Parts: sequence; structure tokens; C-alpha cells
Amino acid sequence: MNLNVYLQEKKDLVDAALDRYLPPAEKFPRSVHQAMRHILFAGGKRLRPVLALSAGELVGGNTRNILPCACALELIHTYSLIHDDLPAMDNDDYRRGMLTTHKQFGEATAVLAGDALLTEAFRLLSCEEVKEKFPAGVLIEVINEVAFTAGSGGMIGGQVVDIESEGKEIDPPLLEYIHTHKTGALILTSVRMGAKLGGANAMEIGALTRYGESIGLAFQIVDDLLNVEGDREEMGKSPGTDAVQSKATYPHLLGVSESKRRAEDLVASAHKALEPFGSKADVLKEIATFVISRRY
Ligand code: IPE
Ligand code: IPE
Ligand code: MG
Ligand code: MG
Repeated sequence: MNLNVYLQEKKDLVDAALDRYLPPAEKFPRSVHQAMRHILFAGGKRLRPVLALSAGELVGGNTRNILPCACALELIHTYSLIHDDLPAMDNDDYRRGMLTTHKQFGEATAVLAGDALLTEAFRLLSCEEVKEKFPAGVLIEVINEVAFTAGSGGMIGGQVVDIESEGKEIDPPLLEYIHTHKTGALILTSVRMGAKLGGANAMEIGALTRYGESIGLAFQIVDDLLNVEGDREEMGKSPGTDAVQSKATYPHLLGVSESKRRAEDLVASAHKALEPFGSKADVLKEIATFVISRRY
């Protein structure tokens, strides 16, 4: 299996579904519908939906059935990027190779477009098409986990501490809190969503949870490293911004080589967590490797 081909195939599936689920750009009020689509369709790896689909496939789930819920993860992720880039947060001008949403549409519309994407995610998770495919109990459990992950117990908690730690020297446990919450939580929930909707048993959920935790933290450590060493064109966003804003990052606290070592150790743990699945888990294994080898 070629991972790039696999990722492209899944990305195409997700992109087409997102286009179907989102209100058309021409629908009134146009400003917010255009702003919702601006960064959403500017590219992006679609890692979170792909993880949900791949984890679901691993445990015998049906990709088509899981697809709308997987798309909801991308809506939440994109909302978080739109808000993360705002002047009140990271104040960034470029995202996915485009002007950020507030640069293009103004701050008020960017805030509202983010709000709308987050809300739309929960509409999608509970829509008729999804309700028909899964037992209500499983679905409610998944929706509850997504809500927890998106909130102050997860992503928002991480974002708050990230912002409050700017310009401060924080200790490694607090830095790990930031990374596992602002980024790791949604990645973990993506894997667990796929597992649960795919019908995984408790042992499989346990193994995939360990996998998701490891790649979630590794993913943000690599995001920090790319901010130091990455290329603007490849990433579609500006490098060097963390240092300008005195962000609490792994390279700042531990140095570049130790940060790389941590990320590699985490990927090794992710690979280990997949061992019970044997070669059936090759896709997830390669995705874990991609998390540290990626240039974007
Ligand atoms: C960037 O996420 C922001 C983080 C949470 C680290 P991605 O690197 O997944 O960004 P896209 O979706 O590919 O643009
Ligand atoms: C983004 O973290 C995390 C969320 C959007 C929840 P960063 O601020 O480190 O990510 P980039 O570098 O802007 O993509
Ligand atoms: Mg940020
Ligand atoms: Mg940012």
C-alpha cells in the first residue's frame, strides 16, 4: 500500500462529502457561508477524518457510514484554526496557503464562521443519515466524547493555557498539558470515534486509545518543530511565529534534537500499541510514521 495514494483517496472522499454537507457559498447570508468554506476548502491534510475512517476500517466498520461523523471532526478542527489565527490569539495572516479568514472577511465574520462550523459539526453528528446507521446509545456516547474534547476539558483547555503561557517559562508537565489538550485530544477522539462507530471491542478501543494518545502528542511536537524548521510554501502557513510570540513549545523548552527524540519515542509507542492487530493495522502504522516525517 502506498500511503500517499491512500491519503489522497480518503481526502477526496472527505472533501466531496464536506461540500455536500456545508451550506452553499451562495446561500444567504453569503458572507458567513463563504467564510465557512474559505479555509475549509483551501487544502489541509484531513488527518482527523482520515484517522476516524482508518480506525473504523481496522475494526471492520463501514467507511461510508462513518463518513459524516468523520467530516464533523474536520469542521471542528477548521473552526479551531480560524479562531486560533485571530489577532486576539496567534494573530496569523496565512493558513493552508491562503489569507486567514479574518484577513479575508474581517474579524466579526471570522468569529461567526468559526462558531457556525462548530455548531454545524454537531448537526452533522446527529443528522438523519447518521441516526439511521448507528445504535442511538453508541452515537450519543460518541457525540458526548466529541463535545468533551472540543470544550474546556480538551481543546479549549489547551488553547487557554497556550495563550496564558506566552512569554512565560513553564515546566514540562504544563507544556505536555497544552499539547495533549489543544491538539492531542481531537486526534485521540478521531481515532476513538472510528473505533466505536466501527464496532470495536474493549480491547481494541484500549489499544487504539494508546495509539491516539501517542500520535496526538507527537503531532503537536512536530508542529512546533515545523514552526522552527519548516518551509512556508510547503506548510501554507508562516514559520517562525512561535518565537516571535514567545510561545511555550517543545523546541523552546527541550531543544530541537530532544524534541525530535520525544516525537520518535511517541511514534514507537504508537506502533507498539498496534501490535495486537498485526498487519491489518499497517495503514495506521504508516500514518503514525507520517506524523513525524511530514513537512507540512
Ligand atoms: C494544524 O493542524 C494545527 C494543529 C492543531 C497542530 P494540521 O497540521 O492538521 O493542519 P491542516 O488541517 O493540515 O491544515
Ligand atoms: C493550534 O495550535 C491548536 C488549535 C487550533 C486547537 P498552534 O497554534 O500551535 O497551531 P498552528 O501552528 O497555528 O497551526
Ligand atoms: Mg495557537
Ligand atoms: Mg496558531
